[in-house]
Amino acid sequence: MKNPYRRHWTLDPEVTFLNHGSYGACPARIQLRQQELRQELETEPVRFMGHRTSLLDRSRERLARFVGAPMEDLAFVPNATHGVNAAIASQRWKPGDEIVVTDHEYNACRNALDFHAERWGATVVVVELPFPLTDPQKIVHAMMAKVTARTVFCLVDHITSPTALVLPVEDIIPAMQAKGVRVLVDGAHAPGQIPLQVQKLGADYYTGNLHKWTCAPKGSAFLYVRPELQADIHPVTISHGYNAATDNRSRFLQEFDWTGTFDPTAWGSIADVIDFMDALVDGGWNAIMQRNHDLTLSMRTMLAERWGTELPAPDSMIGTMASVFIPDAAVKTVEKRGTSVYAELHDQWGIQIPAIPLPNDLGTVVRFSTHIYNTESEYLRLAEAVESLV
Ligand SMILES: Cc1ncc(COP(=O)(O)O)c(C=O)c1O
Repeated sequence: MKNPYRRHWTLDPEVTFLNHGSYGACPARIQLRQQELRQELETEPVRFMGHRTSLLDRSRERLARFVGAPMEDLAFVPNATHGVNAAIASQRWKPGDEIVVTDHEYNACRNALDFHAERWGATVVVVELPFPLTDPQKIVHAMMAKVTARTVFCLVDHITSPTALVLPVEDIIPAMQAKGVRVLVDGAHAPGQIPLQVQKLGADYYTGNLHKWTCAPKGSAFLYVRPELQADIHPVTISHGYNAATDNRSRFLQEFDWTGTFDPTAWGSIADVIDFMDALVDGGWNAIMQRNHDLTLSMRTMLAERWGTELPAPDSMIGTMASVFIPDAAVKTVEKRGTSVYAELHDQWGIQIPAIPLPNDLGTVVRFSTHIYNTESEYLRLAEAVESLV
């Protein structure tokens, strides 16, 4: 059956696009909205930039309701990597301090942690997560087992990148904080994939991408900072906001709102994309996330059954993206052909999906995404494509 929503995206009709997770995809209407804003900007650049705060606050107010956090505590950043970097670069560690991170951490953010830890003489302690697993509490236990009297900071993903696991951050955050550990949650994949109440989660810092699952233009993300910590946080680029008067607006917002001349039209389109998506489907965002979640669960079961592979995690740890092991025989076939699983699926079948060899000889997974424009027939095509390699 034809998907009624696909026409709103400009995705190549020749491609079976099962990789929303990497960079998102922005609907045509929102591309147009951003273009309108760009035209306004280029018509009178000085006036546009002079009024940018009201444009950004319009988006911030809508975002605050979408992610469940006060608008004063939400700064815009271009991406989650930036958000993670700002939070980490604002820490003052000392030699011997320990920082906890998992072995499923996204490479770019792990690099930021290693870079800053080394400068302070702090130690990065890597927790090996149990995987495959059946009980998410085992993750909490594995992480807490690495906390010592020297642990000061924890970076944890809300949804992991290679394995697409929704981690139990609602348990990890209070357990870490009870030990005096500050927690930075990297929610790069969370907004628009799973219902989010950022303030209630209680993390010290939470960053999330909007250009992924919320479908905003590229360069849209936010950083939430607990009010008590805002005095000590700065963007990675110091600009005018650092010494601006704070009578009407916090230094936190002023610093992040302006890090030098840039194009604010992606951030200016955030309210529009949240509203556009909300109006697209009966039941709005909740219905979108539920539909995508249900399709993800049924398709991951179908794929694992057809390929005869084990499901690596319980349904309760899945959002709208899932990693499924492919048969070893398929990996061997592509090795013999001198190609890769990714190239085979892309070049021979027109399927856009990441194929990720996991460490410790665990095997190779394909990580599929489900957004509102995806249809069951696309996953059946993926099933057939992998079977053709066995
Ligand atoms: C867990 C995680 N963190 C951070 C990022 C980086 O996102 P961006 O490139 O938008 O900064 C990703 C990207 O996929 C991710 O999966």
